[in-house]
Amino acid sequence: MEEIIIRGGRKLDGKLPLQGSKNSSLPILAACVLANGVSVLHNIPELTDVAAAVRILEHLGCSVKRQGHTLTVDSRGVSCYTIPEHMMHEMRSSIVFLGAMLSRLGKAELCTPGGCEIGLRPIDLHLSSLRALGAEIEEQNACLHCACKEKLRGCVISLSFPSVGATENIMLAAAAAAGSTTILNAAREPEIDDLAAFLNACGGKVRICAGGAIQIEGVGRLHGAEHTVISDRIAALTYMAATAACGGDVLLQQVQTAHFLSVNRVFEQAGCQITATPDSLRIRAPKRLSAVRDIRTLPYPGFPTDAQAAVMAMLSKADGTSVMVETIFENRFHHVHELNRMGARIRVEGRVAIIDGVARLSGAPVTAVDLRAGGALVVAGLAAAGTTQISGVHHIDRGYERIEACLRTLCADIERSAERAGRQQQLQPPVRK
Ligand code: UD1
Repeated sequence: MEEIIIRGGRKLDGKLPLQGSKNSSLPILAACVLANGVSVLHNIPELTDVAAAVRILEHLGCSVKRQGHTLTVDSRGVSCYTIPEHMMHEMRSSIVFLGAMLSRLGKAELCTPGGCEIGLRPIDLHLSSLRALGAEIEEQNACLHCACKEKLRGCVISLSFPSVGATENIMLAAAAAAGSTTILNAAREPEIDDLAAFLNACGGKVRICAGGAIQIEGVGRLHGAEHTVISDRIAALTYMAATAACGGDVLLQQVQTAHFLSVNRVFEQAGCQITATPDSLRIRAPKRLSAVRDIRTLPYPGFPTDAQAAVMAMLSKADGTSVMVETIFENRFHHVHELNRMGARIRVEGRVAIIDGVARLSGAPVTAVDLRAGGALVVAGLAAAGTTQISGVHHIDRGYERIEACLRTLCADIERSAERAGRQQQLQPPVRK
């Protein structure tokens, strides 16, 4: 079983160009189903979730070629309207293909992605919105049989919660529908803007309005387009949390700093100095971090739930007591148990985590049980004295592109067990027969 091995206690120092955004790449890849033609997508990170999305595209009839971080997707051959169960389970956000398939093919059959490590993850908002656009959806034994008698028809949809995935599914379904759609209380995450930009490059008419509304004029048919996805703000926040926790001075490059306005405040309250240009962020850590009293995860532009775990790992070494409230997912504190095994002092009361900062974390064997919990354990391992061995690495590879190589460019002592085994093999004398 693969592990990440970290010998902690080193300051982080250097420059790191940031990976492309996972959460932008996935809905944009789904949009390629809708965009009948050839699309060229730049800055697509090499992640297992992206590979899973590519397998779905190929299954549906697309041809996909990767050259470095550029994917060329030819969706002219799309004809299949089913996604097999194992592909749906490989990646939870595969549900975002539903809106695009319905719009392009008029039908879709797939099973529900189901709950995961961080909670139940219902899709009721996705389904009720697609029904409002005219889809007929039958749910049978966790499988969805979806069909449109006629073309999907635009309407006004008011979301009870600004769900990112539901907003994306509606945008995909409505972009080529008949008539206009308005989404009220839509998600405002930067990844939504990125999807809108790609749909518009494909001939769509999507307008993000002030106040959380999105207006979509259905255009009947979309064509392929070229697009560069935004950088990954959650990976950036993980590297920032690591720098803050370890001490040091790191320049993150190729970032859209406008996406960081509310989160920079948390790092500044902890005593870090942040210097931003439009496309770079420099973070300089203080000698000792200060506690931050009240962090609440909220939809964008609030503090992102995806950064909660990494920032908690950072605050576990702060001076004083920090408090974090998780308002988005009901079960997103799996990392707490593992952080406490490394010497952190964190209590969970319902959706609230109370973090009593300690002067020292100690390396330990720990397990990542979900993607962002894995990011948090890497932060803690880098900041801890001694050696940390992290198992459950496949969760980390879903969202962080070659995390160990990135951190090595920042002077961290981190490697994979496979790399270590390779090195040891090289050190062995050759076998003579
Ligand atoms: C996306 C992100 C994920 C991030 C999350 C919140 C991707 C691939 N994933 O996930 O990294 O943590 O946004 O920022 O972009 N909900 C319902 N019914 C629904 C849909 C959602 O009740 O039909 C609830 C969820 O259970 C959760 C909350 O709404 O409590 C937020 O979910 P949502 O914004 O939909 O997250 P995802 O799109 O799944």
